[in-house]
Amino acid sequence: MREYYAQRAREYELVYHKPHRQQALRRIEAWLTEVFADRCVLEIASGTGWWVPHAAARAAAWWATDLNPETLAVAQAKTLPASVRFAQVDAYTLQGLPDERFDACFAGCWWSHVPLQRLDTWLASVHAALPVGARVVMLDNAYVEGDSTPVTRFDEHGNGYQRRSLLDGSQHEVLKNFPSQAEVLARLGPRAEAVRWHDFGYYWAVDYRLDR
Ligand SMILES: C[S@@+](CC[C@H](N)C(=O)[O-])C[C@H]1O[C@@H](n2cnc3c(N)ncnc32)[C@H](O)[C@@H]1O
Repeated sequence: MREYYAQRAREYELVYHKPHRQQALRRIEAWLTEVFADRCVLEIASGTGWWVPHAAARAAAWWATDLNPETLAVAQAKTLPASVRFAQVDAYTLQGLPDERFDACFAGCWWSHVPLQRLDTWLASVHAALPVGARVVMLDNAYVEGDSTPVTRFDEHGNGYQRRSLLDGSQHEVLKNFPSQAEVLARLGPRAEAVRWHDFGYYWAVDYRLDR
């Protein structure tokens, strides 16, 4: 995962240029602007920062974090709202997190890459880093027949894998899960309340507030 996305950093955003996805992307971008208004947001696995200009537009503070310097560098080269800062943080350990009073969290197209056997622990550690009342948004790809890259195999845990190629011709096998709404909601755990599911066609999102 880490190496694949480091290698893909410079061509990553081609995936956001697909003409038929533009309408869904504009809807999501507008929604994210509203959701995070006035919030101090921790973004996990922010990558090249596709969502940042929109999601951080009205945020009080926005920390875009990713493990790869290569993807962070693409994001840092963009013109972004003054509230945006960057940090190199591993999504699993959250080591390197800045000393901030986050009251929101966002992860785009990351859930689908978390092995199913690590999902509960990862979510619990994210929740543990947030206070009561924090707003959380998970956004990810929906599987669209004929458009999404096919899943070619499943492992013993039920994780799916896709075969992907980069512009340099290199081939990669990447773990990518496409959970149903019921599977996502079942994972959120006891602290999630006011849970809302959003179907954006090519993408799904869930947003909720942390209780207790
Ligand atoms: C599918 S991209 C998502 C990027 C961005 N959030 C988006 O929605 O366009 C996955 C990102 O996860 C990052 N990544 C891989 N392993 C990671 C880890 N252990 N911790 C944090 N980020 C990681 C990659 O560098 C990549 O930027």
